[in-house]
Amino acid sequence: MKKIIIITGANRGLGKALVDIGLKDENALIVSLSRSLHEEHKGISGTQLIFVKTDLSEPFSDSIFGIIDKKITPETNLYFFNNASIILPIDKIGSFNELDIATSINVNIQYPVNLINFLLGEFPKNRSVLVNISSGAGNNPIPYWSLYGAAKAYMKLFFKVLEEEYKENSDLSFYSIDPGVLDTGMQESIRVNAFPKQDYFKSLKDDNKLIPAKDAAQRIFNEINYYI
Ligand SMILES: NC(=O)c1ccc[n+]([C@@H]2O[C@H](COP(=O)([O-])OP(=O)(O)OC[C@H]3O[C@@H](n4cnc5c(N)ncnc54)[C@H](OP(=O)(O)O)[C@@H]3O)[C@@H](O)[C@H]2O)c1
Repeated sequence: MKKIIIITGANRGLGKALVDIGLKDENALIVSLSRSLHEEHKGISGTQLIFVKTDLSEPFSDSIFGIIDKKITPETNLYFFNNASIILPIDKIGSFNELDIATSINVNIQYPVNLINFLLGEFPKNRSVLVNISSGAGNNPIPYWSLYGAAKAYMKLFFKVLEEEYKENSDLSFYSIDPGVLDTGMQESIRVNAFPKQDYFKSLKDDNKLIPAKDAAQRIFNEINYYI
């Protein structure tokens, strides 16, 4: 297999759209690190898609790679999309409970950082493209989004440091790509959890300005030069 594309949170939203585009490439094997499989992806051959049931709120386990490491040869091009993310809890600091704080940090930071640490440690010589799905919320303070925004900022800087550390290695590429405001479940959560700037996000839906996930996913594949 020439390309292995690992995607977190691949069962819906942007992650599902990234899978759909990856599946069009017959030289690619998609590895979904998700809690479930989208209905449309059930029945797809294991030579095209492998589902590794993964809850990113749990402590990291490298045992998931027992399933795929034999498929990764020195010639394999690796792609990793750090896509899964949670925006909840949307609330003012002082109102969170410990479990919500831990879950946010685990899903948004702890698990992806461990995954990247493992991938770069285990497959240091493969040609690899690592993609962080970022957000404007990581650049600008949005009241009541403190956990999500800070996590997005963390991952963006983390990727910048990796880029710096590996700048002499032309086999490794790092991207942080903001997909824009998407018509996905995350925006549904935003519309039903009150916060000061909520009306703006409601108006994006009302005015039909949300970006379809499939358009954003295609732009991301183009931006990382997947087809070159
Ligand atoms: N939506 C936007 O407007 C927007 C804007 C800028 C950036 N982004 C970024 O784009 C990316 C995709 O967002 P989206 O809009 O597609 O979000 P989404 O519709 O809410 O989907 C989130 C994905 O993350 C997964 N996930 C959440 N908790 C998980 C856990 N504990 N273990 C495993 N997977 C988990 C979900 O799986 P489950 O079904 O199992 O929960 C789902 O596949 C995120 O990084 C987000 O920050 C989104």
